[in-house]
Amino acid sequence: MAYELRELASPDDWEAMHRIRLQVLFTAERHPGLVYDRAHPHDIEPAHSKFVLMLDGAPIGTTRLDPRDEGGIVRLVAIVPHLQRQGHGSVLEALLIDYARARGMKRLWLNAARDAVGFYEKLGWSAEVWDEQELLTFARDCVQMTKPI
Ligand SMILES: CC(C)(COP(=O)(O)OP(=O)(O)OC[C@H]1O[C@@H](n2cnc3c(N)ncnc32)[C@H](O)[C@@H]1OP(=O)(O)O)[C@@H](O)C(=O)NCCC(=O)NCCS
Repeated sequence: MAYELRELASPDDWEAMHRIRLQVLFTAERHPGLVYDRAHPHDIEPAHSKFVLMLDGAPIGTTRLDPRDEGGIVRLVAIVPHLQRQGHGSVLEALLIDYARARGMKRLWLNAARDAVGFYEKLGWSAEVWDEQELLTFARDCVQMTKPI
């Protein structure tokens, strides 16, 4: 199996990221009533690195990395439904850490959906409040976690 964590480079990559997010993260169950914005300012921001995880040439996952202090905030992690629980999310996390280390980052943070906390704990993340404001707003149902890299 050949993996590549690819920074978005083409319209097809952008489309794959949106498609996977809509399929996995921005569903009616998770976000009732939300209208997904394909041109959200946080995605357009050039400092925010957007990725698709490619497996044998096909997009199967996505995430974004937003620089912060001496590290970065991992956002919007998703693996396509029919390939979850087969190790691909762990590969995505490892490749993202390689990318972050190569840019001098020392620590990562994220808002974990409650049902994803077990996944991150297995990968060595621990719970820690790192931004009260996010916890009070869009991340109110999440557990804030961090990992030194
Ligand atoms: C969470 C997610 C990214 C994990 O990716 P994945 O490919 O399914 O995870 P992996 O197969 O690499 O799992 C690695 C380990 O974590 C465990 N794991 C995976 N998802 C888990 C979960 N939701 N809860 C507890 N453990 C989990 C696996 O069983 C595996 O353990 P093992 O090594 O003992 O077998 C993926 O399931 C997903 O997209 N979920 C829906 C969206 C989501 O919750 N995203 C995160 C938002 S913060």
